[in-house]
Amino acid sequence: MPFRAPDIAIDLGTVNTMVYVRGKGIVINEPTVVVVEARDRRSVRAVGDEARYLIGRTKDTLRSVRPLKDGIIADFDATEVMLRYFIRKAIGASHLSRPRALVSIPVAMDEVSRKAVKEAVNMAGAKEVIFVEKPLAAAIGSGLPVYDPVGSMVVDVGGGTTDSAIVSLGGIVVAQSVKVGGEKMDQAIINYLKKNSSMLVGERTAEELKKDLAAATPVTGSNTVAHVRGFDLLSARVMDVEFTAAQAHDAVTEPCMAILASVRWVLERTPPELSADIMRSGIHLTGGACQLLALDKFIATHLGIPVLTAKEPGDATIMGMGYLIENQDLLNAVAHSGVNLQP
Ligand SMILES: Nc1ncnc2c1ncn2[C@@H]1O[C@H](COP(=O)(O)OP(=O)(O)OP(=O)(O)O)[C@@H](O)[C@H]1O
Ligand SMILES: [Mg+2]
Repeated sequence: MPFRAPDIAIDLGTVNTMVYVRGKGIVINEPTVVVVEARDRRSVRAVGDEARYLIGRTKDTLRSVRPLKDGIIADFDATEVMLRYFIRKAIGASHLSRPRALVSIPVAMDEVSRKAVKEAVNMAGAKEVIFVEKPLAAAIGSGLPVYDPVGSMVVDVGGGTTDSAIVSLGGIVVAQSVKVGGEKMDQAIINYLKKNSSMLVGERTAEELKKDLAAATPVTGSNTVAHVRGFDLLSARVMDVEFTAAQAHDAVTEPCMAILASVRWVLERTPPELSADIMRSGIHLTGGACQLLALDKFIATHLGIPVLTAKEPGDATIMGMGYLIENQDLLNAVAHSGVNLQP
């Protein structure tokens, strides 16, 4: 059944949420976070950018809540409040009171989780909700020929999940979503420092170390070192330790291997004629965390297939969704295809 084109697209990410308004483009790109009163979690103080600004600058009376974990809703009320704020901010004073929304979800998301997303978006003010799976949107946003009778492969390495998919003829042929992404890399750095230096560092420090120092393949000849300030668990004092690029590489190896395993899983289940296309056109990386240094080289070396990184990897999914709501015939084509495989 054809439906009317959505007015807005929402890429509901574990780390960042983006909203695209038809005819306008991306109007919201803010962290997926909410700040509430510690005493009364229903009393929301700030959302998105404002919430991130408050974190660390306020006293114990406020708590930050991350509405999503590993790609799925972890706190329903916080998700609803956040989405209501973003939707209102996005449509502003326009005549739209209850927009139709296209919303991104990980591949093969279970029925219960899908229902939760739909309900949260509805309660946040959208009158109709339709879904698109993240890697399909990311493939469109990367400019891949998803409607052609050829196979294209996209691997969306987000904050919470990595969604790998083969797309062809407007649909997903084989796909897998694993709960590994940028946040698991941050956590791996936190765990590494705890175990090897008895040092406790926060998530922000770990994220900075990941972006500045960590690489998926060891960077030869590099003797880069970061001075990390954290809480020394032995002396119970704030101290500095040196953290080298080699140690950062060690720390992120496990999540990188998990991403590689999922890419391989999908490739092993790809029909041979489509595999031949992928061997030629390569694997396309999207998502903020695909910017981990040398992740492209790491995957290419292990699989012997060219790997290309999108120009604006963090925007690929929302740009693909925007393209779909601006081109309704394509949206219809996508909405009527797609077979998802996952163990
Ligand atoms: N230069 C960089 N190097 C490594 N990681 C990066 C870099 N820039 C951003 N990231 C990571 O990208 C992640 C956020 O990516 P993105 O915005 O695609 O996630 P998301 O869409 O919110 O999550 P998901 O789609 O998994 O629900 C964060 O973990 C962030 O630390
Ligand atoms: Mg994402």
